[in-house]
Amino acid sequence: MNLNVNYDNLEQSYLFSTIAKKVNEYIQNNPDKKVIRLGIGDVTLPLCKTVINALHNAVDEMGVQATFRGYGPEQGYDFLRTAVQGYYKSHNVDLELDEIFISDGAKSDLGNILDLFGINNTVLVPDPVYPVYVDTNIMAGRDVKFVDANGENEFLPMPDKNINADIIYICSPNNPTGAVYNKNQLKAWVEYALLNNAIILFDSAYECFISDNELPRSIYEIEGAKDCAIEFCSLSKTAGFTGTRCGYTIVPKNLGKLNKMWVRRQTTKFNGVPYIVQRAAEAVFSDEGQKEIKENINYYKDNAKIISDTLKDCNIWHVGGKHSPYIWLKCPNNMKSWEFFDYLLNNVQIVGTPGSGFGKNGEGYFRLTSFGSKENTIEAMARFKKLFK
Ligand code: MLT
Repeated sequence: MNLNVNYDNLEQSYLFSTIAKKVNEYIQNNPDKKVIRLGIGDVTLPLCKTVINALHNAVDEMGVQATFRGYGPEQGYDFLRTAVQGYYKSHNVDLELDEIFISDGAKSDLGNILDLFGINNTVLVPDPVYPVYVDTNIMAGRDVKFVDANGENEFLPMPDKNINADIIYICSPNNPTGAVYNKNQLKAWVEYALLNNAIILFDSAYECFISDNELPRSIYEIEGAKDCAIEFCSLSKTAGFTGTRCGYTIVPKNLGKLNKMWVRRQTTKFNGVPYIVQRAAEAVFSDEGQKEIKENINYYKDNAKIISDTLKDCNIWHVGGKHSPYIWLKCPNNMKSWEFFDYLLNNVQIVGTPGSGFGKNGEGYFRLTSFGSKENTIEAMARFKKLFK
C-alpha cells in the first residue's frame, strides 16, 4: 500500500481549520470574553421565507408514495437547471440545459473538475487566492505557477505572455481581496486562454454582490469564453446555502470532449444533490426568492460599508467591500498577518483571516467579512476604533 505522497507537500492543515482551532483554544482559556467572528465567509442570516416554504413542501412530497423520489439525475433535476438557465438569460447569457450541472457547492466541483485534466499541465493561480485551487492541485501532484496580485495591479493580475499556462484560475469578485475584473480585463484573459489552448476555471461564487451592471457576473458575458472556460457558482453566499449545499457548474459544449467527460465523471462518482435541496434552490430563482435574497445581500453590503467607513476613519488602507462581502486591509503598524490575527484576538476578541493564508502576496494583509450580524459588526468596529483611532 502506497500513500499519496503529494499530501506531504500541503500545509499541515486547511487555513480555516487552523483558524477555528486557534479561536476555540482562545475561547476555552477565556470563557468570559465575547469573541466576534469576521473570519470565514460563513453567512449568518437564515434562509429566506420562499426557500423555507419550498423545503417544507418538498419534505412533504418525500413522505407520500405518489411524490416520493429516490435517485435523481446526477446532473440535477430539469426544474432547477431550467431555473439556472433563466438566471443566466437575465444576464444575456444563453446556455443549453445539458451545459448546466447542479452541484453540492463550488468548492467540491472546483476540486472534482481536476479529474478531467492530466498531471502534466501548467496551472496558473493568482496569489493571493482561495486556498482550494492550490491545495487540490498539490494533492494531484501538479506544479502550480503564480501570478502576482498586489497593490500595483489593484489585486487584478493580467496575463503574462511569457507563461504558457494550461489551466488558469480566476475568481471575480475575488476571494480574498474583493477586487472585480471589468469586461476588458476578462476579455484579455479569454484571449490569452484561446491563444494558449488553455482552460479558465472561473469561480463566480460572489457574483451576486456585484452592483454595477457594467461589471461581468459571468465569464460567458465575454465573447469567446464558451470556447475556453468552465464556470463554478454556488448558492452559499447568494442565498445563505453554506449549510444547505447547492451550486452549479457550467461546462459548455463548445469545449468538446470536456462536457461528455464531466457527465461521465459525475454519473460515476456523484449521485446528485438531494431533491429537497434542489427544490429549495429552485425557489431562490423565483421572483419572490430573488427579492428576498437581495434584501439579505444588501444587509451584508451595509455591514461591509460599516467596516469600510471604520477603516477609513482609522486611516487603514483597504479595498473590496463594494462588490464583495470581503474587505482586504493592510495590517496597521506593519504587522505581519498572523501577528495581527493574534493581536486582534487577544486585545479586542475579533477574528479575521490572515492574508498570508492566501499566498505570499497576502503577507501583511488581513481579510474581514461582512457576513456577521449588524450588531456584531458595529460592536467589532467600535472595538477596532479603540485600538487604531
Ligand atoms: C472563505 O471564507 O474564504 C469561504 O467561506 C470559503 C469557502 O467558501 O469555502
